[in-house]
Amino acid sequence: MKIVSTIEDLRDQLRGQLRTAFVPTMGNLHEGHLSLMRLAARHGDPVVASIFVNRLQFGPNEDFDRYPRTFEADCEKLAREGVYVLFAPDEKELYPEPQEYRVNPPHHLGDILEGEFRPGFFVGVTTVVLKLFSCVQPRAAVFGKKDYQQLMIIRNMCRQFALPVEVVAAETVRATDGLALSSRNGYLTAAERIEAPALAATLQEVRAQMLAKPLEMARIEREACARLEARGWYPDYISVRRRADLQTPSMVDLAAATPLVVLSAARLGATRLIDNLEI
Ligand code: PAF
Repeated sequence: MKIVSTIEDLRDQLRGQLRTAFVPTMGNLHEGHLSLMRLAARHGDPVVASIFVNRLQFGPNEDFDRYPRTFEADCEKLAREGVYVLFAPDEKELYPEPQEYRVNPPHHLGDILEGEFRPGFFVGVTTVVLKLFSCVQPRAAVFGKKDYQQLMIIRNMCRQFALPVEVVAAETVRATDGLALSSRNGYLTAAERIEAPALAATLQEVRAQMLAKPLEMARIEREACARLEARGWYPDYISVRRRADLQTPSMVDLAAATPLVVLSAARLGATRLIDNLEI
């Protein structure tokens, strides 16, 4: 695997490649990321990964400084997966001057759910993804459904800017107890790690209740939050949305079995976890 840290070297490595499949990451790679690499290999050749902890998508009180950085171990994992090039720029390379041109996702997608609780998050994500796409020029790029709203916003960005990139969605990889794999799981204490699958279990309950009594959505969401609170969690939201546009379903949608997804974010101790489940 070639490891390159400059845009110029990356372009040299990829010259003439028309079928590149790309997986952008912030490192601290786990089995979920590696499943994205395997899916990428089915959608293009060569597979290019990036590792860049993107300051633009972190709020002032978030975990940018303590975000886990495990570069050596990440390289070994990517090499084992047969990744052809790892692009690992530093901040000076990707943001040599203040990044004043930014992508602004529309309010109805970018400022709801995660965007409401993490203002500016999706501006940071879409800006870096557009820039990484411009560096790598992939034919396909893989994003996990774990970050469901991110996936949808990036897909819409590609459509609206007519970017020649196929956005491929990868299923969430879970531990055997149901916890969605995430780099932030590493922040959990041993006791919190035992409690953490309760978030996924709650989403399973919401799903079952929605399938049985969809018109009672508001009560189902409210009671799910209350159950987590009773276990010591601090939920930001547990919200059932239309899969197509992440808007709140109307009574007509609920009666017509419109495809839905339940999305959640909740804090357990000092760790904020997100998860979702299609209904
Ligand atoms: O999902 C992530 O790890 C990040 O948001 C991404 C897509 C790599 C952009 O920094």
